Amino acid sequence: MPRHFLTILDFSRDEAARILDRAAAMKAADHRSDLLAGKTCILIFEKASTRTRVSFEVAVRHLGGWPIFMTQNDSQLGRDEPIRDTARVLSRYADCLIVRTFGHDKLVDLAGYGSIPVVNALSDAYHPCQIMADLLTMREHSGRLDGLKLAYVGDGNNIAHSIINAAARFPIRVAIASPDGYKPDPAVVAKAREQGADVTITTDPAEAAAGADYLYTDVWASMGQEAEHAARVKIFAGYQINDALLAKAAPGAKVLHCLPAHRGEEITDAVMEGPSSIVWDEAENRLHVQKAILEWVFTAAD
Ligand code: CP
Ligand code: NVA
Repeated sequence: MPRHFLTILDFSRDEAARILDRAAAMKAADHRSDLLAGKTCILIFEKASTRTRVSFEVAVRHLGGWPIFMTQNDSQLGRDEPIRDTARVLSRYADCLIVRTFGHDKLVDLAGYGSIPVVNALSDAYHPCQIMADLLTMREHSGRLDGLKLAYVGDGNNIAHSIINAAARFPIRVAIASPDGYKPDPAVVAKAREQGADVTITTDPAEAAAGADYLYTDVWASMGQEAEHAARVKIFAGYQINDALLAKAAPGAKVLHCLPAHRGEEITDAVMEGPSSIVWDEAENRLHVQKAILEWVFTAAD
């Protein structure tokens, strides 16, 4: 049976910790291998991407494999060929699917109908590769994860959900501040809490930020929500990482953003460019973590 990586809950606690250790070692060694020699990974991206696409293509190459990039615009997916048919066909050609899509159910379908591993490169519900990279970044900067408080301010979206899942696999405390109507899915919160996550949900950014070691935010309107942008700018106006919010966090707190950022909306230019920002390290770590995730996927599948 192939091993899929659709959410952080697909890892055990031990596996999650080992992925970070492995990513750190691969980063330190500028790792290359032939693990994927002769293997092809197909990237299916139904949404735009800079970091995820490029870091995955580079990761596959660093592991000796061959990436193929496709979108709905240049494949039959855009002409309504069902994803489950696509999954079965591509499983006959390739060794792994790395997929960015809208509904998370599409990823579950791909995993169910295909016969090769599926890796979530972002769905409307989760962005697990991103948050694994964020945890590596936090560990690098703090020298540990144990007891760290991570505060997320903004939309209760895919990033927020994966942060909540991370609290069920890593020894961190998570606080999420979102406006009413835009809070994370209660089912995601409940499941993570059942699995030991220390998660607080509030509408108050200052409450979430209080004593936090890391502040995190994401765009107010995600891909697919462009039509809601103007309305969301009003709703989320108080949910910005700025100097005033940073002052409420722990001394020396660092700021994360998955990027792309909208300066002046969810984060100020001063914070993005300031000494607390570690967003470039965070973006770099996508590559190292995804190499470790691919290694896990392929090693476990053997
Ligand atoms: N953070 C992230 O996933 O960026 P891209 O949309 O550029 O891949
Ligand atoms: N929440 C954002 C994340 C982008 C990396 C989106 O889904 O568009």
